[in-house]
Amino acid sequence: MNNLFGHRFKISVSKRNQLNQHSSFLIFFTGLSGSGKSTLASAVEKKLYDEGIRTFSLDGDNIRIGINSDLGFTPEDRSENLRRIGHISKLFVDSGAVVLASFIAPYEKDREFIKKTVTEENYIEIYVSTSLEECERRDTKGLYKKAREGKIKDFTGISAPYEAPKKPLLALSTECTAIEDLVEIIYEKIKEKLYTFSNE
Ligand code: ADX
Repeated sequence: MNNLFGHRFKISVSKRNQLNQHSSFLIFFTGLSGSGKSTLASAVEKKLYDEGIRTFSLDGDNIRIGINSDLGFTPEDRSENLRRIGHISKLFVDSGAVVLASFIAPYEKDREFIKKTVTEENYIEIYVSTSLEECERRDTKGLYKKAREGKIKDFTGISAPYEAPKKPLLALSTECTAIEDLVEIIYEKIKEKLYTFSNE
């Protein structure tokens, strides 16, 4: 950090919010693999897009194929994965977008880092609380089976922990409620925030 001087650009995030006529913040979906985070985030993004909101999605699997392909699943690598996601989310929020990020993010301290990085005001946590039994039953990617067979180590829920969020804005399971209904619950919760921004 030595000898670095952050430049203050003329176009601020509040100017971008005014141009867009909506605020920008991070909606962070956390939960087990297969819990429905990405499906839900994608449906919420579609709803926001239809409402004329500028959005961007960040997703564990996609990000790990690209910019974070050097990282694995040890606690240290997951922390680094989420440290980068915190900063990337901040950049997109500053660009004026509503960011939808879907990551397992099993450790409280990593989620806290993201909250601190984008600021508490701009951090909305949604815990996709679908049970381990259901995620394992679905096993859409066949990973739980492999983890049970010992072919994948450090697998969240099987051989690595998941620390459930203590105070998420919402805790929603994709087990009994249809995705469209969950989208409405989330939209109702964030609607006011979307249209609250500084006019200075
Ligand atoms: S996180 O823990 O660092 O937040 P992230 O959300 O980026 O994880 O990536 C999770 C995805 O990686 C899972 O949906 C799954 O497809 C894949 N994956 C591969 N190995 C593991 C593992 N050991 N534990 C959890 N997910 C894994």
